[in-house]
Amino acid sequence: MGPMVGIRDRKALREDLLPAGLTEVLAVLERAFGAELAVVETETGQLLRPIRYPPGARWDLWIALCGQVAQHARPEFLEDEDPLLVLAFPLCRTETTHLVAVGFFLARSIKEGENLAGPAAVLGVTEQDAAAWAKRQPVWSAESLLRLADLAIHYLEEQDRCRHFAQEAESLSAHLANTYEEISLLHRLTRNLKISRSDEELGRVVLDWLLEVLLAEGVALQLLPVADAESHRAGPGRTQPVLLTAGHCPVDNAGFSRLVQHLCLGVPLQPVMLNRAVTCRPDWPMPEIRQLILVALVEGENLFGWLAGFNHVDDGEFGTVEASLLSSVAAILGIHSGNLELYRQQSELLAGIVRALTSALDARDKYTCGHSERVAQISVRLAQQLGLDARQQQTIYLAGLLHDIGKIGVEDSVLRKPDKLTPEEYEHIQQHVRIGHRILQDLKKLDNVLPIILYHHEAWDGSGYPDRLPAEQIPLGARIVAVADAFDAMSSDRPYRKGMPMEKIETILRAGAGRQWDPRVIDAFFQAKEDILEIVRRERQEIPAAWLPGSASLATPPRSL
Ligand SMILES: [Fe+2]
Repeated sequence: MGPMVGIRDRKALREDLLPAGLTEVLAVLERAFGAELAVVETETGQLLRPIRYPPGARWDLWIALCGQVAQHARPEFLEDEDPLLVLAFPLCRTETTHLVAVGFFLARSIKEGENLAGPAAVLGVTEQDAAAWAKRQPVWSAESLLRLADLAIHYLEEQDRCRHFAQEAESLSAHLANTYEEISLLHRLTRNLKISRSDEELGRVVLDWLLEVLLAEGVALQLLPVADAESHRAGPGRTQPVLLTAGHCPVDNAGFSRLVQHLCLGVPLQPVMLNRAVTCRPDWPMPEIRQLILVALVEGENLFGWLAGFNHVDDGEFGTVEASLLSSVAAILGIHSGNLELYRQQSELLAGIVRALTSALDARDKYTCGHSERVAQISVRLAQQLGLDARQQQTIYLAGLLHDIGKIGVEDSVLRKPDKLTPEEYEHIQQHVRIGHRILQDLKKLDNVLPIILYHHEAWDGSGYPDRLPAEQIPLGARIVAVADAFDAMSSDRPYRKGMPMEKIETILRAGAGRQWDPRVIDAFFQAKEDILEIVRRERQEIPAAWLPGSASLATPPRSL
């Protein structure tokens, strides 16, 4: 039978049937052997690479024998037709390789006119052509051939090992690059985890960073409403989901909610990844989303929101690298949201305690009822006008509520005395700033509030009490509360007088600017006047009718001291 691959078929054979890199390696081997090498795939019995010349006559047999050579994993002669040798050796010693090289070699020089019928039959050429071929061949001893083939196998194994190392190095360096990006992003993120940062503020920064490292067209963060947000007095909480985005985000807030709903997610601990296999299906409702990666912001049992990457930049697929990055970021954001929530709950608790304390005061001195709450709210409005941040506003709010808490320790006979106070009584009632300070000084969370309580009766010109501090030496919070306190006292009705008309109060405030009060705070008051009047109108409505001036139950007049 002729060769399995005839001369006409040879052109159809493509070198690219060979594993990557083998063509180059074969070129090296062929130079070493000084002969062409065929390559046989023993699994399929295919001649992947034929020898151009001579054609060879027993390829069926040789291919079958190559299977054994691969199994033995060592060089062997398929034919020994003196002086012709057909050598075969495996191109690797691993079990997964089934490639065997085959070549024709001359074991000695031929003599002039020698009978070459046997070799010619093996080579598949005429005797004359066999003689011509033999003259062009280098002469090998069988032993040298086997040794060289052994070396070749060894060389191939080394090549393989190098290739393997190179691949490993490449994948390691890609992995390192990803890990580096991930770590650097997480590092930046953790450095920005401050309780003073709102989740929205942090979220915006993080989305920008994520877009830089993630191969996504857009990233989005949906933050869910905060539980019982409406009870948060110092600033309104979130009552609706908020969607923050960076890059091109294919859905709006409502669309994002629909997406989460469509995916029927409870609170998945693993990231959800959707690629073309899913989004190509006709039942996928959002064709604008081709690839998606979605992770939950979870802390404990609370779900705070969702973090998503949309559409791979070159329409590739999202994989474990992206999933791991998004999960890590979501975990940190979840912890941050959890901390914020805890902090909010603590603040609520503190505010509750503070309200309980002020109620205790109100119960003793009913005329001042609601005064603390109004002073607190007016102070916050003034603080906003002066550009103070949310934390400072929170402090000012608490200070407003607690500014007169020390009156709990003032004698009833003095606190409720309808007549003019004696100098001793006046001095006693002035102690309320120190008493208030003392009552609260062990509450760590009120550290910032204490100086405001202590100094809310200081005056800009240094004529106040308890320490006669002047101007800027009085804490700003105390200067703010002083104005709010004075305005509420002047505008409140008293049993012996109605609240002062607004024009008169304005005159007094203007005259006192730079003497009694900080001129900047007075300016802020006039800028925010409408809002402040609205606070007063709203808060006064909450006062029980029995406590209102003119009610029969009122026995003692209030003071603003
Ligand atoms: Fe006071």
